[in-house]
Amino acid sequence: MGYVHNTKEMLEKARQEGYAVPAFNIHNLETLKVVVEAAEELKSPLILAATPGTMKYSGRDYIQAIAEVAAKNVSIPVALHLDHHEDIDSIKQSLVLGVKSVMIDGSHFTFDNNIKITSEVVKLAHQYGATVEGELGTLVGQEDDLIVEAEDAAYTNPDLAKEYVQKTNIDSFAMAIGTGHGLYKTKPNLDFDRLEKIKNLVSIPLVLHGASGISAEDVRRCISLGCAKVNIATELKIPFAENLREYLQNHPNESDPRKYMKGAKEKMKEVVKEKILICMSDGKA
Ligand code: 13P
Ligand code: ZN
Repeated sequence: MGYVHNTKEMLEKARQEGYAVPAFNIHNLETLKVVVEAAEELKSPLILAATPGTMKYSGRDYIQAIAEVAAKNVSIPVALHLDHHEDIDSIKQSLVLGVKSVMIDGSHFTFDNNIKITSEVVKLAHQYGATVEGELGTLVGQEDDLIVEAEDAAYTNPDLAKEYVQKTNIDSFAMAIGTGHGLYKTKPNLDFDRLEKIKNLVSIPLVLHGASGISAEDVRRCISLGCAKVNIATELKIPFAENLREYLQNHPNESDPRKYMKGAKEKMKEVVKEKILICMSDGKA
C-alpha cells in the first residue's frame, strides 16, 4: 500500500487462496482512476496494465506518475504493469522510472530466442526489484499494434512451458489455451486439459490473457487451474465508448470533458466491478 508494488506477493497469495488479481488495461487519467476507485471500493488488489501504445499515447512518465499517486491514495495494493512490452530499451526506461512489474512478450520469437530475450529482461528487472511475466504460445487477435492471425496462433506446449519457466526464471507465466485478444467472432473453446497439465508442471502463478468475452464460469475454471492474474482490456473500453458516443449524440452542444465523460466512467466502473467479483479478488486487499 502507498507505493506501486511488484506482483510477486500479490500473485502468490492469489494462487494459494484460489482467486485472481485482475489486470485492467488503462489508457489515461480517466480510465486509471475508474479502475482504482472500483478496486478500492471492493477492497481488491489491482494491477494497472499499460501497453506500449498506452505509453506512447499518455507518456511513460505520466502513467508512472499517476499510478504512483493512485497507489499512495488508496488502501489496496496497486501494481503498475508493462503489458505486452517487446523492447528492452523501453522496459529499461520504465524500470528507471520505478515500474515494478514487467511483461516481456517474446512469444512471436522462436523458442530459443524467446528464452534469450526473456532471460535478459529477468536479469535486468530483478536488479530493480521488479517481477517479470513471460509468454509462450501466441494468442489470436489484436492488442494495440500486435496483430496475430488465426493461422499463426499457437497453443502452449506444456513441456516447453516447463523448460521456458525453468530456463528464464520468470515470476509469472502467460500461456495460450484458446483465449484471444479483442472480441470473439465465435464462442472460444478453452483447452482446460492443457491448462491443467501446465499447472502441474509449472509452479509459478499463471496469467490468463484475453479474458474479455470469456464467461464467468470459464474464467473461474481457469482460476481453479492456477491462473492468478486475469487480463481484461476490450470489455472495459466498450461501455466507455458507447456511453460517450450516445451522450455526445444527445448533447451536441456539450464540450466540457468533465461532463461528457462522467457517464462513460460510471459505465466502465460497473464492468470493472463485475470483473473483480468474477476474479473473486474482492475483500482480498
Ligand atoms: P482482452 O482485450 O481480450 O480483454 O485482452 C486483454 C489482454 O490480454 C491484455 O494483455
Ligand atoms: Zn494480452
